[in-house]
Amino acid sequence: MATERTLSIIKPDAVAKNAIGEIIARFEKAGLKVVAAKMLHLSEEKAGGFYAEHKERPFFKDLVGFMTSGPVVVQVLEGEDAIAKNRELMGATNPKEAAPGTIRADFAETIDANAVHGSDSPASAEREVAYFFNADEICPR
Ligand code: PPS
Repeated sequence: MATERTLSIIKPDAVAKNAIGEIIARFEKAGLKVVAAKMLHLSEEKAGGFYAEHKERPFFKDLVGFMTSGPVVVQVLEGEDAIAKNRELMGATNPKEAAPGTIRADFAETIDANAVHGSDSPASAEREVAYFFNADEICPR
């Protein structure tokens, strides 16, 4: 298995629940390392650019509205098989379908307020990490 990096976002609903620490603890307990992190309040432009591939989908406006509704914590996670491992920890996009014990099962209420985002492929991870972090903001350890 290769060492990978993936982008994780703790979304406004989970930040509002004061669950940042509990969510990061799950990543760390699963062997992922936080190698970059920042808290941001996204502008419409920044959130819209991040989700540009969903621009034509009916929920795009709601998604951007939600992602700009409060601060988020954006992180780069590093570890073996980090992309798939993070997706497994997150659970299904719709929290009602998320496996018990996953982050979305435990912290999310609805498909639009679903606690976390994680890159879904190596290509997405590369694009998404670069969308939020300069190379000198990432601290391999
Ligand atoms: S996935 O995993 O990319 O296939 O999921 P997908 O269903 O394509 O959803 C992509 C992102 O859009 C969010 N989403 C929604 N937001 C608001 N309203 C509705 N109905 C809705 N459906 C999906 C979903 O949470 C995904 O966000 P990210 O941040 O990529 O997980």
